[in-house]
Amino acid sequence: MVRASVVLVAALLTSVFIAGSAKMMQPKNVMEKEIRLALLDEIQGENIKANLRVLTKEPHQAGTEANERVAKAIEDMYTAAGLQKVHTLTYDVLLSYPDWDQPNTVAIRNPSKGVDIFKSKGVTEPILPDEQGAPHAGHQWLAYSAPGIVEGDVVYAHSGTPTDFARLKEMGIDVTGKIAMMRYGQSFRGNKVAEAQAAGARAAILFSDPAEVAQGNRDDVYPKSIWMPPEGVQRGFIMNGHGDLLTPLYPAKPGAFKSKTAEEAKAEKILPSIPAVPISYTTAYEILSRMSGPTVFSDWQGGINVTYRLGPGLRDGLKTVVDVKSSLQNRHIHNVVGYIPGHDEEDRYVILGNHFDAWVYGSIDPNSGTAILAEVARAMVELTKTTSWKPARSIIFVAWDAEEYGLIGSTEFVEEFVQQLGGRAVAYINMDCFQGNFTLDANAVPSLIDVVIDVAKRIPNHVEEEVQAGRKTLYDTWIRTNPGPNGEPDIKPLVGGTDHVPFLTFAGVPTIDFRMENTTRKSYPLYHSLFETPFVNEHLYDKPDFAMHRSIGRYWAEIARTLADAPLLPFNVTRSAEEMHSNYVVELKKALAALPADPNLDEAEQQIKMLEKASEKFLYRAQHFSTHALLVKDDDRKLRGINERIMMTERCFLNPRGSPGASQNRHVLYSISDKDTYAGRVMAALYDAIDDYVANSDKKTSGRAVAEQISIIYHAVHCATNTLKPFL
Ligand SMILES: *[C@@H]1O[C@H](CO)[C@@H](O)[C@H](O)[C@H]1NC(C)=O
Ligand SMILES: *[C@@H]1O[C@H](CO)[C@@H](O)[C@H](O)[C@H]1NC(C)=O
Ligand SMILES: *[C@@H]1O[C@H](CO)[C@@H](O)[C@H](O)[C@H]1NC(C)=O
Ligand SMILES: *[C@@H]1O[C@H](CO)[C@@H](O)[C@H](O)[C@H]1NC(C)=O
Repeated sequence: MVRASVVLVAALLTSVFIAGSAKMMQPKNVMEKEIRLALLDEIQGENIKANLRVLTKEPHQAGTEANERVAKAIEDMYTAAGLQKVHTLTYDVLLSYPDWDQPNTVAIRNPSKGVDIFKSKGVTEPILPDEQGAPHAGHQWLAYSAPGIVEGDVVYAHSGTPTDFARLKEMGIDVTGKIAMMRYGQSFRGNKVAEAQAAGARAAILFSDPAEVAQGNRDDVYPKSIWMPPEGVQRGFIMNGHGDLLTPLYPAKPGAFKSKTAEEAKAEKILPSIPAVPISYTTAYEILSRMSGPTVFSDWQGGINVTYRLGPGLRDGLKTVVDVKSSLQNRHIHNVVGYIPGHDEEDRYVILGNHFDAWVYGSIDPNSGTAILAEVARAMVELTKTTSWKPARSIIFVAWDAEEYGLIGSTEFVEEFVQQLGGRAVAYINMDCFQGNFTLDANAVPSLIDVVIDVAKRIPNHVEEEVQAGRKTLYDTWIRTNPGPNGEPDIKPLVGGTDHVPFLTFAGVPTIDFRMENTTRKSYPLYHSLFETPFVNEHLYDKPDFAMHRSIGRYWAEIARTLADAPLLPFNVTRSAEEMHSNYVVELKKALAALPADPNLDEAEQQIKMLEKASEKFLYRAQHFSTHALLVKDDDRKLRGINERIMMTERCFLNPRGSPGASQNRHVLYSISDKDTYAGRVMAALYDAIDDYVANSDKKTSGRAVAEQISIIYHAVHCATNTLKPFL
């Protein structure tokens, strides 16, 4: 059925195009609509489903032979799809593994008798052995944990945020020498372990609380529903930073010099120096049900059926034992790359990416995305064969390796090609995984917000009830479930945690990152567990035709087509300027005004005035530029010049020195704060400087640091204004 309609459209297109390949001859509007419809039609749910099965046959952590087989499978998919110049890029990076023969455990010990009254198995048993039964699939571990055996007293530290540890301190509970037990959620797990270590803990235990992962009836969990079953465990990495640890700022090409050692990374607190282990809520029950000490603050109680206590320690003198075996290893990783060369501008890139390495089978994170991307590639190439359509700019498809270990594959790639990307990349569009089936959720830099919204309005809704309620497009459900200010969906410039981060923060390439999700903007319950196998996608989230997965593919493809084809890049620089002028600067002034009067902040006040003026000029210039740019039609040389100025305006926001203490975080507006790797706080380095000023007794130095951070943003805004002007 679907095939037939494609052929029809193809025939129509061929007749429209046959006149010649020169793009000026194409009746643009008619053509664009036909191409769009043909592209949407070409993307097939069944293909995504088949791809997913191929990619999730075995557990495939980065650096393993199994993951090399997945890389090869993707290469084959890209080649079969008809992408050109398909190849892999190899890097030699520091990874971490458990001891597959000796699982990590948590035990409860009676020290007087020298016996363990409870010991976790350290391995989750499969529920669907056909999909989950590979050797070692069930191992529970956290990558980059220090190895070690720690016997001691547990303290419950809630989510392990700085605020949580401060509250424990106020309660007079000393974490020094203890084992910090923390639940997942609220912050990145690596930050939790780092906070525990800083508070003096000798080990960390992380658990999934049913309050987050099993909200329904306890009998209604996986495989009956999407809620985490009793033995499910979230894996993940706990290093603080991204990219290969041993080659900061430079690509870890095999044989290349390693400028840092693992010991140095430990001393710098990038690598944790305490053992850490993840457990299920069933194992957490064994500990929490025996805890002594005061009951927790009411907002710290979780969903396990006992009254949570702070500790320290268990009743009756019982001790807790954390036993972690792990090792750091240098391994090869492989990014897979393929192209659809641009017809008019080969050296302008629209880059689409997702990672393929997984903690276990990865059917949601990340291979739902990998499977969709391969289908987007196939559909786009197919269109170039069945019609005379060719993207005007090159579209690059990339599958990243070792994202799960800290965005390593993408970071090394960006470090290797930072100059070329800086000059040639139009945008990077990431989709990590399909983690829910209800609504789109997209984040983007301000200049690309118009694109993410406009495209969402062109993609039919896949949720039947929504369509029946009159919400016919992805946009209609998105704006209803995730409304933000200004009558638009809530779109953040950058939320951390996946592969768009190095593109934006190191190379200044504008990014879009999106996903399909439930309405809550949270993770999904089975996240990083053994149970992420195709059954979840096929039976719990989607229908046999994979219509929901297809929807995401359609959105991705249409964004790519839009950015690759539009003669004038559809970036809205006025939006960037408006955001700066009416939002960031205003918020910054408020933050400074809230501080007590202090002459040590005079310089900062002066810099704010400079920034305010500069942002007014930027706004004026952007409006002028946009009006002018729209008048430039059908003059390729002029358009290319205008487009180049748009691209280079974005690059102005890179500070070549990076944020203090984090030279890879070069974007002055959208770098991720090391204080919380998941959060996307705008102007993080500046707000970190303000926090330091508040906390620091040396007000003179810390006040000057605030002024300096403001001045860096001022220079960036001034640069953007100058870039929009044709003359200096
Ligand atoms: C609480 O949960 C545990 C573990 O699931 C179970 O063994 C126990 O019987 C439950 N206790 C009550 C009072 O429901
Ligand atoms: C989304 O999640 C909420 C809360 O977890 C749940 O009540 C709701 O049914 C979910 N919606 C869909 C469409 O799955
Ligand atoms: C969407 O996912 C929810 C689980 O969150 C599931 O209950 C529902 O059936 C799914 N919808 C479809 C159409 O498969
Ligand atoms: C660009 O954004 C501004 C500010 O949000 C808006 O007023 C304007 O209409 C947008 N321009 C285009 C061409 O959509």
